Amino acid sequence: MFDIETVRADFPVLNQQIYGRQLIYLDNAATSQKPLAVISKIKEVYSLYNSNIHRSTSKLAAICTEEYERARNTVREFINAKYTHEIVFTSGTTAGINMIAFSFGEKFVNKGDEIVVCESEHHSNIVPWQLMCNRKGAVLKVLPFDDSGELRLDLLDELLTERTRLLCVAQASNVLGTVNPLDKIVEKTHSKGVYVLVDGAQGIQHLKTDVRLADIDFYVFSGHKAYGPTGTGVLYGKESLLEQLPPWQGGGDMVKNVSFAKTTYAELPLKFEAGTSNYTGAIALAEALNYLSNKGLDDIHSYERDLTDYALKNIAQIPEITIYGTSKQKVGIASFLVGGAHHSDMGEILDKMGIAVRTGRLCADPAIHHYGITGVIRASWTFYNTKNEIDKLCEGIEKAKKMLN
Ligand code: ALA
Repeated sequence: MFDIETVRADFPVLNQQIYGRQLIYLDNAATSQKPLAVISKIKEVYSLYNSNIHRSTSKLAAICTEEYERARNTVREFINAKYTHEIVFTSGTTAGINMIAFSFGEKFVNKGDEIVVCESEHHSNIVPWQLMCNRKGAVLKVLPFDDSGELRLDLLDELLTERTRLLCVAQASNVLGTVNPLDKIVEKTHSKGVYVLVDGAQGIQHLKTDVRLADIDFYVFSGHKAYGPTGTGVLYGKESLLEQLPPWQGGGDMVKNVSFAKTTYAELPLKFEAGTSNYTGAIALAEALNYLSNKGLDDIHSYERDLTDYALKNIAQIPEITIYGTSKQKVGIASFLVGGAHHSDMGEILDKMGIAVRTGRLCADPAIHHYGITGVIRASWTFYNTKNEIDKLCEGIEKAKKMLN
């Protein structure tokens, strides 16, 4: 059974005072906290068997390599990929998208071709495509969202043309919290012969993710938002596609043979893992996923859904509040403004109350500009947060509003 006190005890950072108040950590969409299992795993690697993977001949290297490849299989199982070699370890969502933007661009995109991104994406799922389109002479097209934060799927037909090569969409928006209807999007996009990249930065930690069932071509996520270490991440790609893509970065581990006459590349997934990878991080990321599986994903998701319903209902009742993103299906995110209060003033006051939130443009300028505003306050919660913390957030917002008025 899901016992919130036991869960909270697993996350040591939660148990502290900030400015003399119990910390209320509601900035999970920016980065999540780490359970002891993950912290201990990092210590275990460095204390017991740290050695460079895939290279050295020592016993330590063999253990470390085995742990790393086991981690890859843990990820495969977690997202239900078919093969472990479809799992590439990266430094995060940004690296994964940049890799696909480069390699997919080189292979499949020509002058005048089109890439579609959504208006609600964060910069990591916009700027790499702008760079690639500039390089290849391709055109970036935008699928807008309506004021409730739902994507305008009625415009998809028109946007997808015979020149479209790829559609890039978040599993959930980091500003609006909207859970995008991947099944509908993938079906429509594939029916036009276009590939789909899904950015799971705000999805993997909150939603059951099955890349095979959803028939996703490329899927990326960050370890640090999914209770794993910073500087870790995953790129999944269908074997048939990854096989065709050229390497992104050159260096050790991604080659078979190197000569000045001709260099040949390693098989998947190493073709995309140049240099000494963050193997400690990858091993600890798998530990984070194991932690979630052991706690029970169904229990975690149902606890989060209940907390999200409670939070959205209560936050919406604060006088003079505007919530940006009111779609029916949301992850635990509320971006809002209250009365005439400036978002950064409100954020600073909440911080002094021990409540950690994020303010500003949330690395997603187009989504913020959609509403003609300069920034928001964002509270984002997860399975170690409580209804009591949401109550404190609501009280804090009301107090801060009075102070700022
Ligand atoms: N993309 C991260 C956020 O939403 C950094 O805060």
